Amino acid sequence: MWRFASSFHTHSAPLLLHKFPIDHNAPPRLENNIKKDIVQVSLPMNILSIETSCDETGISIIEAEGGLTRPSFEIHANTLTSQMKLHEKYGGVFPSLAKREHSKALMPLLEEALTHAKHFQNTETVLFETQKIADLFVREPELKQRFLKRINTLGIPPIDLIAVTTGPGLEPALWVGVNFARALSRVWKKPIVGVNHMEGHIASVLLEKEQPIINFNALALLISGGHTELVEVDAWGSYTLLGATRDDAVGEAFDKIGRLLGLPYPGGPEVSALAKIARQKNLPPIEPLPRPMLGSRDLDFSFSGLKTAVRYRIRDLKSNLSDTMRMQIARETEDAITQILIQKTEKALSERNIHSLIVAGGVIANTHIRDAFNRLVQKYPPLTLHTPSATLATDNALMIGAAGYLKYMRTGAEDPESLTATGTLEL
Ligand code: KG4
Ligand code: ZN
Repeated sequence: MWRFASSFHTHSAPLLLHKFPIDHNAPPRLENNIKKDIVQVSLPMNILSIETSCDETGISIIEAEGGLTRPSFEIHANTLTSQMKLHEKYGGVFPSLAKREHSKALMPLLEEALTHAKHFQNTETVLFETQKIADLFVREPELKQRFLKRINTLGIPPIDLIAVTTGPGLEPALWVGVNFARALSRVWKKPIVGVNHMEGHIASVLLEKEQPIINFNALALLISGGHTELVEVDAWGSYTLLGATRDDAVGEAFDKIGRLLGLPYPGGPEVSALAKIARQKNLPPIEPLPRPMLGSRDLDFSFSGLKTAVRYRIRDLKSNLSDTMRMQIARETEDAITQILIQKTEKALSERNIHSLIVAGGVIANTHIRDAFNRLVQKYPPLTLHTPSATLATDNALMIGAAGYLKYMRTGAEDPESLTATGTLEL
């Protein structure tokens, strides 16, 4: 498990990478003057990561090595708790509820992660100024109480870096994670790095058991509940947005259509399950739904027309929406979405010299879409396809740890004092 734990204490090479001193009262250390190119040094390091951008609270501990050329990860602990059931009655995520639930969940998850990673027995005394920590949590009184009650019992675990999602996402929810990370950084005197959630989705493919080699330039299609983006990846950290949705994200389209069909939230997996039954039963296809912007000359997407078309279909049926019709609509929805995603990706591939295709984000948990991408890459050898498994596709803290490592290797640590949450953060 903690093969390198002892070497971390004596061997501080990863800590040479701090861009900012952790103790702001202490004189700047010599290491802080070391130039950025030393960031290529890549001894293994333990990363604690925190994700609170939407309705999942996650904390994980990974061990990372290989630097930017051959990043590889070993998972020591992965905790996740979902608020989905609570948000179900709103048909989407309710921000103040999300914030409260993150505040409740973080401390128990931290303890669970440390226990799982066998870090828990650490007895090093934790010294900090209670008031300074309390000040960090002025807007999260519940978290403050839990944090101050338990943090002394945890010692100082052998963590080399704290990575936390700073955006994009729901700002009140993001702040809970950011303030929690800042408090940990202060109490444990550990460096911190802020992570873009979308870079997290891209990096999720690196966490698969058979760690892939991504050949650049790569193309990343990011398909989640909040985003639909085609991104060219020249290198880790070098991202060019090629196209994006002009209205609803693809996951959002699935969720809204699921709601119209009377299915529970989130609708994506539900619509997909009905579509699968429709195929198994060989139900006759319905009149096609629109495929907005399918033939447009750019790489942008639009999904709101699909939802509107489903709304009209259902309205025209009056109250005769049978289970069979639900399955047929679900199948046609999935077919339309799949065709749009494949065609836009193929257009991007044909216009550029791409060696690896990454498809990430919650929607790639969909097996029908995944199969379609597998078929697509077979047409373009030696193009390789990289997708996260279903559990790594939807939001989790592991991918934040992986992206945190890549960012730390590029830029070093950030100043915990100036770390902020940005709901609209771009890649
Ligand atoms: O990446 P993610 O967990 O959260 C965001 O960052 O948004 O993605 C969640 C989205 C939801 O819209 C959900 O309905 C969709 O991913 N999703 C699916 C499937 N599993 C999750 N959509 C279609 N088919 C699925 N099997
Ligand atoms: Zn996400």
